[in-house]
Amino acid sequence: MSREKKASEWFEDFYKENENSHHNIPWAKQSVNPLLQTYLDEKRVHKGKALVIGCGLGDDAYALANGGYETVAIDISQTALRIAQKRFEGTDITFEKQDIFDMPHKYCEYFDFIFESLTIQSLPREFRSKMIKAVARCAADNGEILVVAHKKGLSDGGPPWPLTPQEIEEFKEHNLHEISSELITEPSNISNTRFRILYKKSL
Ligand SMILES: C[S@@+](CC[C@H](N)C(=O)[O-])C[C@H]1O[C@@H](n2cnc3c(N)ncnc32)[C@H](O)[C@@H]1O
Repeated sequence: MSREKKASEWFEDFYKENENSHHNIPWAKQSVNPLLQTYLDEKRVHKGKALVIGCGLGDDAYALANGGYETVAIDISQTALRIAQKRFEGTDITFEKQDIFDMPHKYCEYFDFIFESLTIQSLPREFRSKMIKAVARCAADNGEILVVAHKKGLSDGGPPWPLTPQEIEEFKEHNLHEISSELITEPSNISNTRFRILYKKSL
């Protein structure tokens, strides 16, 4: 098993332990991420194929599917996917067990919109560049990627391991151009500042 996959493994145990008490899962707000909702409100036309990275309990995937995207939601945890599938039964979302580091070739340069929230930061820094590259690779020409991540403060420990401005910049090494960049201030025990960056791919 790869080191990356090993680092992601604890998520499955965590979801399993909390399968009947979703409120114990700190990141799972069980509603659409407001920073994704702003994108949907601003964009108005929602066409094409969307991907949610590390979809967890599925709320962001639901918002995209409901908005009109053909949506694929991936997670490494089978239990998270089972919960999500149950919560959003009857919708057209394709929930798939996938490791972002090992995506099938068919998803290379495939998606018109990708939402990545808090998954990159959930893995140790040593995997960061590889993960950014893996996410970027899934975007089609002219596709957009919305990235939400906490900004690194003084603490160096984890999990999670919030992103530095230099790490966020790394997306640009993969044919991605910044369309907008915001720093959101909101109290959190991880970091009070979050990045919300929108990129567009141009091959
Ligand atoms: C901190 S949670 C964030 C969940 C959701 N994106 C959100 O913003 O609430 C990270 C998610 O990524 C998933 N994950 C971790 N490593 C992964 C990997 N290598 N490939 C796909 N998903 C992964 C976890 O199972 C978990 O659901």
